[in-house]
Amino acid sequence: MGNAIVERTPTEIMGLDELIEGGIPKGNLVVLTGDPGAGKTIFCLQYLYHGAFKHNETGVFISLEEKPEELMETAAIFGWDVEGMVKKGKIILQTVELYDFDKLRDSIEDLVAKHKASRIIIDPGVIFHLYFERELDARKRILSLGKMLKKLNVTTIITNESTTGQHEGLYGLEEYVADGVVLLYHTRVENRFVRSIGILKMRDTKISDKLRPVRITAQGIEVLPKEELFSEA
Ligand SMILES: Nc1ncnc2c1ncn2[C@@H]1O[C@H](COP(=O)(O)OP(=O)(O)O)[C@@H](O)[C@H]1O
Ligand SMILES: [Mg+2]
Repeated sequence: MGNAIVERTPTEIMGLDELIEGGIPKGNLVVLTGDPGAGKTIFCLQYLYHGAFKHNETGVFISLEEKPEELMETAAIFGWDVEGMVKKGKIILQTVELYDFDKLRDSIEDLVAKHKASRIIIDPGVIFHLYFERELDARKRILSLGKMLKKLNVTTIITNESTTGQHEGLYGLEEYVADGVVLLYHTRVENRFVRSIGILKMRDTKISDKLRPVRITAQGIEVLPKEELFSEA
């Protein structure tokens, strides 16, 4: 699948890897933007758990919102034994307070190096946008975090909360540092909500410009890579 020169990190989100030539190019940074309830946190848990379970890759989950117990509980509902992986040291769950961004960046750098992590999640939730008072300050710090992560050669997903379909950037991260941007929609169409996924950009990867339907089932997040959106409506 895809071109053999680029080494890839499979997301293990069912149906997604075949849309991106097998996975995210190794060491790249992807911003996952989505509406509240779109499934960003579940996506991140699925990515880390299967990275550890199927590929024996160590993953770090930096959470600004949920506590480790809450994340393990959510994962368990889908049958992912994140708690077991934490015990084995294959997954590191860390909830951080955003009081000091430079400290946060340094501790992420230490964690990734110490555990030789291949995958990292930074799942900010809504708090991220509330933290910074000054736009310029936010830009400088977030860009420096992004650059540091790319230097570490760890495949990174940073989530960004959008407000129902409105895609607002993450202080320049998408434009200047991110290699990929994936959009998870949970939008209203007539009298119901419809889930879909769009790949806005992905470095070194041939991508389709079509949105594809998404389902959340007992097995987690599933993309229907060949189905047209709204075809079942
Ligand atoms: N077992 C399940 N089956 C189907 N949908 C689920 C299940 N568990 C959670 N969901 C859906 O996932 C949503 C939460 O996903 P989450 O990853 O927390 O969203 P986000 O982080 O984007 O706000 C819930 O609102 C619910 O609609
Ligand atoms: Mg979330």
